[in-house]
Amino acid sequence: MTHSTIARTVSALALTLTASLACAQQDEVGEQAKKIAAGAGCFTCHTISHQDSKDGKLPIGPAWQDVAKQYAGKPGAAEFLTRVVLEGSNPYSSHWKGKAAGIAMPPNAVAISESDARKVVYWVLSLK
Ligand code: HEC
Repeated sequence: MTHSTIARTVSALALTLTASLACAQQDEVGEQAKKIAAGAGCFTCHTISHQDSKDGKLPIGPAWQDVAKQYAGKPGAAEFLTRVVLEGSNPYSSHWKGKAAGIAMPPNAVAISESDARKVVYWVLSLK
């Protein structure tokens, strides 16, 4: 083995390690967010994946994978959505027609703290 082959192997190994570490952290964030969301009653109206709602009926709230797609790359999305989760959505500007049966989301501030809401929103936005 030449020197550069060794160097390449080592850096490839390091990359793999970093990637799986990031993955494990992401799983943990997901598990925590799911627990918070379940405790706060979010799943009464929301599903995580789009497929969950394939029984022909629209879910009450949009599937969170759809939310992630909708806000992908939009600056300020996490802050905006944290406010919407805490304060509820405006029924006059509901923007999930065709994807959700509900017209507006009631405020959830009684069920979830601001920091927990932010955690769940960050996780929702990371869904693929
Ligand atoms: C009573 C039903 C209900 C509950 C409970 C509920 N939601 Fe919603 N949610 C909705 C509806 C309906 C919409 C779509 C609103 C619209 O069309 O603007 C929505 C929209 C959203 C959106 C997207 C908002 C936007 O402006 O695009 C997020 C994010 C969200 N909910 C997160 C949550 C979280 C987190 C919880 C739990 C703390 C939760 N929801 C609990 C009904 C609900």
